[in-house]
Amino acid sequence: ALTRAQGAGGRPPFGAAVNQWILPKEEPYRAAIARHCRLVVSESGMKWDQLRPAPDRWDFGPADELVEFARQHNLGMRGHTLLWYDSLPDWARAISSAAQADREIKLTIDRVVERYGAQVGSWDVVNEPIEDLPQRGMRESVWYRALGPGYVDLAFRAARGAAPKAELVLNEYGLETADEGSRVKREGFRRLVRDLMDRGSPVDAIGLQAHLSGDRPIDREGLQALLREFVEMGLKVTVTELDVNDKMMPGPPELIDALVAARAYEFLDTVFAVVRPTAVLTWGITDRHTWMPRWNARPDKLRNRCLPLDENYVAKPFMSVLRHFCDV
Ligand code: G3I
Repeated sequence: ALTRAQGAGGRPPFGAAVNQWILPKEEPYRAAIARHCRLVVSESGMKWDQLRPAPDRWDFGPADELVEFARQHNLGMRGHTLLWYDSLPDWARAISSAAQADREIKLTIDRVVERYGAQVGSWDVVNEPIEDLPQRGMRESVWYRALGPGYVDLAFRAARGAAPKAELVLNEYGLETADEGSRVKREGFRRLVRDLMDRGSPVDAIGLQAHLSGDRPIDREGLQALLREFVEMGLKVTVTELDVNDKMMPGPPELIDALVAARAYEFLDTVFAVVRPTAVLTWGITDRHTWMPRWNARPDKLRNRCLPLDENYVAKPFMSVLRHFCDV
């Protein structure tokens, strides 16, 4: 069915990650998502630790709830994430043989795509494959140790087999700023993408998570050079987890909100000048419910102001920035 995820007026659809624990409990949360979003993604409901608590036990509950919500409100969906090094159940973290890794990856991808493929237009097939400094290159995850760098291609081929028409995405964070860590990460990511293209790996798009922050400026030249290479390789780009860490931003809420909006504008303007993303999603929609405080609580103990709506679901300048670039 045609969902609202097509975007309008040549602008990409806007969407947000949804917290599966809040969705069933808070009507204003559901109303804000239905009102502002064209598509949604589960913040944690489609991760292995949620879906496969044991090798022979599956828990589709939270993901099913979001799929039903999306269907009721004619929303498109992203699937996050078919393969990641994090949020794995203990039995999966303990995988060591190539045969077992191969089998479990293919089983999970086939089973999850079979259940949700009709609703999900775009999948994060592999999430966060590249290390952060001081490590460099491919992340030494359980999958890398069991299968080598080829695990990425294996996952994409399994996903293409299960979802022939979906947008298959390689999703990463930390590719957009001027610090050395981001420069090194762009290098490692570029090498992986070139290797995947050389193998004919069925990657359709690059997912820029875009977890921005007040203390790390956007590297316009560095990011645009990377984006131009993706475009030359025939790859699309999608913005998957946009939010702005305001931990280091000073001052009264209205100043923080202006700085957050400015950072978001700077990033989106940098990307759109090279390529129109297929979608722009924020990682949550309201400051009332964001992952941010867990790792980036503000020193002044004020609530983080990192998302388009404040804690009372009132739109902030960040939402105006999204309306400028997207079909909101
Ligand atoms: O579901 C269990 C619940 O049953 C249990 O009672 C509770 C007790 O702690 O934990 C719940 O699981 C939590 C899960 O979120 C669902 O709420 C996990 O502990 C917690 O670690 C998990 O955090 C999520 C994190 O990814 C790890 O999966 C965050 O909400 C989520 O915002 C964050 O999102 C990631 C993206 O997937 C990838 N990119 C970075 C982004 C931010 O870290």
